[in-house]
Amino acid sequence: MAATRSDALVVFGVTGDLAHKMIFPALYALVKTGALNVPIVGVAAPAWTQAQLAQRVEDSLARSGGVDDPAALRRLWDLLVYVSGDYKDAGTFDAIKKALGSAFHPAHYLAIPPALFETVIKGLGDAGLAEGARVIVEKPFGRDLASALALNRVARSVFPEDAIFRIDHFLGKEAIMNILYFRFANSFLEPIWNRNYIASIQVTLAEDFGIKGRGGFYETAGYLRDVVQNHLFQIVALLAMEPPAGRDYGAVQSEKAKVFQGMRPLTAKDVVRGQYVGYQNEPDVAKDSDVETFCALRLFIDSWRWEGVPFYLRSGKFLAQTFTDVLVELKPPPQPLFADSAPAPERANYFRFQLSPKSVIGLAARVKRVGKEFVGEQRELSLIDEHVGEPTAYARLLDDAMAGDGALFTREDAVEAAWTVVDPILETHTKAVLYDRGGWGPKEADALFTVGRGWDNPSSDLAPTHAASKHL
Ligand code: BG6
Repeated sequence: MAATRSDALVVFGVTGDLAHKMIFPALYALVKTGALNVPIVGVAAPAWTQAQLAQRVEDSLARSGGVDDPAALRRLWDLLVYVSGDYKDAGTFDAIKKALGSAFHPAHYLAIPPALFETVIKGLGDAGLAEGARVIVEKPFGRDLASALALNRVARSVFPEDAIFRIDHFLGKEAIMNILYFRFANSFLEPIWNRNYIASIQVTLAEDFGIKGRGGFYETAGYLRDVVQNHLFQIVALLAMEPPAGRDYGAVQSEKAKVFQGMRPLTAKDVVRGQYVGYQNEPDVAKDSDVETFCALRLFIDSWRWEGVPFYLRSGKFLAQTFTDVLVELKPPPQPLFADSAPAPERANYFRFQLSPKSVIGLAARVKRVGKEFVGEQRELSLIDEHVGEPTAYARLLDDAMAGDGALFTREDAVEAAWTVVDPILETHTKAVLYDRGGWGPKEADALFTVGRGWDNPSSDLAPTHAASKHL
């Protein structure tokens, strides 16, 4: 039976940063296509007027590409109602109920700091606003294993699991969905997708900008919680999972959860934390802060398929470029038959999945150079997809959640298993190493490599997709 579509959307934290950057553009896109045509109740503490909220929406859209359909913007304004109030106050929830009018199946979107999730979920339950409703929760879901367990308990005491939508917006990106598709829609990959042929896998999420005024959030989270435990781990799960038993998405969720369950919990020697020079001068940041804005890890998945294959993950703010890329490095041929194949002069053959800014699948293989000698070079065959008109991840995921489709959301067991992996290093770690802006983070991260030829850094003068042949 098809799930009931939510008949209203309640956005908690509507005056906040996430709403401004991501949610308003997504709502506008959904209103434009006609996918969203139900009341939207925005909730937050500031005593704003309806006009102030409308102004905020306009400002958000101006920053994210402008308004190409003024009628859609007017429809969005008409749908939007603002409720101001304290989340601890039962009166706030009464006001939401009133604003919802005859909508009885709202989706409540918690675009608020994690510390407030529990208060709001309980408030919804106490006010009778959870019945027949859904809740959409932003990452990070909890701040460690204990808080994730507690939060799941609270959420489950108010909502059934199939009404809880834990967002990781990376799962709504086409290039990331394509990892799942590419792995299991083709037959040539599976025979080599294991410890016998793969030497190592590395994932880089690099950003050439800083914390963008989110000092308050960063001081309580850090990069490990902000992107590694969720975005990077989700990518690893899609790369490492076993084939799901069937078409149903529950099977995908189960296989992903098994990847996290198989990950060896991290120890302090598996991680290098870095902090960009100047972070401590950012607003709302402590002058002696040890919070990381860069994180590199080496992890292992104890499974038949991945035994002994290191996964290297790296992510940082103020690095040389903005891109997300996966490099699956293959083992060299067993016998060095040609003069240039021993010792391996370059990186071995590899698969590359560039996930942003472009979607690229690359396969690097050696080919003979013209001439008498049997020597060659590594060349990358690249498939570049532009994904023109791709809906933003937030538009896709909000629409899915309102339709009750949980395929691209994370499940309780997976979230808890992922926290179990990082929990040992959240507090027990060495001090964050300072790094200069515009490079590749602290050089200490290089020492994590036990096998493989180190981090794959595109040369700085070339866009990553074109840099391939330069940094083989
Ligand atoms: C967010 C993090 O979840 O993901 C940010 O909070 C990060 O710190 C962002 O910059 C990266 O996502 P995207 O889609 O902009 O690459």
